[in-house]
Amino acid sequence: MASSKSTSIEKYLNKFTCEDTLKFLRKLPDNSIDLAVTSPPYNIKNSTGNGLKDGRGGKWSNAHLLDGYTDHADTMPYDLYVEWQRQCISEVMRVLKEDGAFFYNHKWRVQKGLIQNRQEIVEGFPLRQIIIWQRAGGFNFNPGYFLPTYEVVYMFTNPKFKLAPKKNGVGDVWKFPQELNNPHPAPFPVSLVERIIDSTHAKVVLDPFMGSGTTAIAAKLCGRDFIGVDLSKEYCKMAKDRMKKYEANPELGDPYSYEKIKRKPPKNKKPITGKSNSKQIEML
Ligand SMILES: C[S@@+](CC[C@H](N)C(=O)[O-])C[C@H]1O[C@@H](n2cnc3c(N)ncnc32)[C@H](O)[C@@H]1O
Repeated sequence: MASSKSTSIEKYLNKFTCEDTLKFLRKLPDNSIDLAVTSPPYNIKNSTGNGLKDGRGGKWSNAHLLDGYTDHADTMPYDLYVEWQRQCISEVMRVLKEDGAFFYNHKWRVQKGLIQNRQEIVEGFPLRQIIIWQRAGGFNFNPGYFLPTYEVVYMFTNPKFKLAPKKNGVGDVWKFPQELNNPHPAPFPVSLVERIIDSTHAKVVLDPFMGSGTTAIAAKLCGRDFIGVDLSKEYCKMAKDRMKKYEANPELGDPYSYEKIKRKPPKNKKPITGKSNSKQIEML
């Protein structure tokens, strides 16, 4: 007979819930989820640089985050942002099983000339490894430092977590190009999430900041179940539509790999040409 715990995650299985993530996570029972994978809002509009803040977009002609998210300004005072992210990580760690893990993708940045390596956020959580996600190039040109081209994936683990057999040999630097064919302003690539899920025994994968449903698609490509949450109705609809298309033709893979989906132009912003690269602008 199914326990009340399993019943309470069952109602969220393979669904996108449109809700504040902390509110949602607090409803999940302890010790109920195998794996969590996410990329939270990076708070990039709260920056000492000027590229994203003033909307010029620097050299990044596809600076979609200039428009922000539909329901989140991404510009919290840094101490509040750190506190919020720590609460989210705590809640995810609470719901993870004893052999569970949480892969938390973030980006380091330079602020006032010094690296902000997100240590304040991750301090004290059971960090076992940092995976480097090597992107295909970068956009934060600055005369004071080399062009940043990687993001990090923090691997928080409970003590009994183990990778699936023979999955450790790929090493800890993973090369995947960033996602270009996705209407969400800040997606991560399906291939990155697919590698994570495929490297574990997880049956159920939670993404507390699901966005366009990339983790859900990766879970399905790996034959697993997912639980997805996002604050934005627009992104939940995007994720649902993407999943519907995937389910109609699973043999074609992720719909965004074969469909050109147009991004919406930024609201109330002049078009960015990407031509003026004479000024090097720190964006993050
Ligand atoms: C970096 S994006 C995630 C993108 C996703 N990985 C993808 O591939 O599409 C962060 C997401 O967090 C969502 N978000 C912001 N604040 C939230 C909150 N309080 N609760 C739930 N989701 C939130 C945003 O709407 C955004 O879609």
